[in-house]
Amino acid sequence: MEIIIQPSNHHIATIAAESISDALKKNPNLVLGLATGSTPIALYKILVQKYKNRELDFSRVTTFNLDEYIGIPCHHPQSYHTFMAKHFFDHVNIPIENQHIPQNATGDFESYCEKYEKKIKDSGGIDIQILGIGTDGHIAFNETGSSLSSRTRPVTLSESTLKANAIHFNSDKSAVPEMAITMGVGTIMEAKQCILLASGKSKSEAIVNAVEGPITASVPASVLQMHPNTFIIIDEDAASALKEIDYYKRCYENRLKLLST
Ligand code: GLP
Repeated sequence: MEIIIQPSNHHIATIAAESISDALKKNPNLVLGLATGSTPIALYKILVQKYKNRELDFSRVTTFNLDEYIGIPCHHPQSYHTFMAKHFFDHVNIPIENQHIPQNATGDFESYCEKYEKKIKDSGGIDIQILGIGTDGHIAFNETGSSLSSRTRPVTLSESTLKANAIHFNSDKSAVPEMAITMGVGTIMEAKQCILLASGKSKSEAIVNAVEGPITASVPASVLQMHPNTFIIIDEDAASALKEIDYYKRCYENRLKLLST
């Protein structure tokens, strides 16, 4: 795990966007795992700008989103379909048939989720998975107690997630759908690279538990300690509870030095 501590959300987004740009220039058929939430919005903005500047071409890219609510239609203003269209898909040239977001209108969840997993496999697997983190340490909608080898499945959202996400539903917790389809922790762990982004004090406890705590289903993000190619890109506030801040900063400086020699 490489911990990269940056002064602001803009710096976080810039570094993540550079990683994606470099990977896309090397491999035009890049398979991206995408996240929603307020944290990655700045990243999408930079990628859109790079596309508009003709620096990036997404025409052969395939995407798989982490999750979607169950119980609201795709066109609902707070659905993750709407989020992705608004912040990314409507502004770049990813063919619509290459965009995958779990569908919330299906009856047979088991076979739907199996098909979602198969589509990921058939695409060659996710090259870069973007992740946010919940204040309780969840990734995607894998809540506390999710099996660390779980696969794509329907889940019930925790009280803390319902509370945190109420902000998008006029602060009405009862309006937040109680269930979602999410990629599993095991599914996420199969991505070739994971980039977890976090900013703000409200994420500091989740970050310290994920990075310096034990690997436990109580903090699903902690499983990333077992992932061989993960970058945790966070701002000073999200990093503020970490014990080894200075060491992580030195590691990053030295990595940059090595890369520039
Ligand atoms: C939701 C999403 C997660 C996301 C989290 C944090 O629960 N399902 O994928 O990481 O929100 O969102 P934010 O970036 O808004 O704090």
